[in-house]
Amino acid sequence: MQKALKYGLYNQETREKEDPELSFSFKLPLAIMNKWDRCGLTSNFLANYQSATFPQPEKTSSLLSTIINELIENAIKYSSSADKQITVIIKHFQNTIQIKTINFAEEETTQKLKTYILKLSENSHENLFLSQLEENSQREDNHSGIGLLTLINDHNLKLGIRIQKEDALYEIHVKAELETNDL
Ligand SMILES: Nc1ncnc2c1ncn2[C@@H]1O[C@H](COP(=O)(O)OP(=O)(O)OP(=O)(O)O)[C@@H](O)[C@H]1O
Ligand SMILES: [Mg+2]
Repeated sequence: MQKALKYGLYNQETREKEDPELSFSFKLPLAIMNKWDRCGLTSNFLANYQSATFPQPEKTSSLLSTIINELIENAIKYSSSADKQITVIIKHFQNTIQIKTINFAEEETTQKLKTYILKLSENSHENLFLSQLEENSQREDNHSGIGLLTLINDHNLKLGIRIQKEDALYEIHVKAELETNDL
């Protein structure tokens, strides 16, 4: 098996050894998720459930929902049409909330993700955000490349990406972590 390509949080996997206080995993069929309102409904539900025990549940839920929505939208948008479902996993550790998606992508899509990872590694997030904004002023599709950078810059989000070749497709894990103090 080829070695996985790892970025960010996947290079510091210590957290995986800790037991989460709350954890749930959802398999979402692409056939029903390709409508964005379903995406919003799912994100709101997961965020509401997760934020019930926080001191400001509405504020926490709104932020979590934005993050979950971005990750789910990406997992759907960049999934291979040969794939049938994506997975969303949410874990609440003592001081951290972790949101993870798993999807399968084609070679070409995965190359774009690798290029994106390279940009993330070589530039400061602030500079990359500004240069993406400039690049995008011409674009009209929904691939503007600022979704994750916005979350990183605005909400102190930590990001991890893991790419593993699986037969003809690539298994993509995207993980985002937030400190509960920031919620
Ligand atoms: N789950 C994923 N699978 C494969 N590639 C991904 C995934 N998530 C992100 N990417 C890649 O990372 C890039 C950055 O993602 P990001 O969410 O920041 O931007 P976007 O989805 O292109 O546009 P926006 O979110 O601003 O509408 C994407 O353009 C895509 O190439
Ligand atoms: Mg996006």
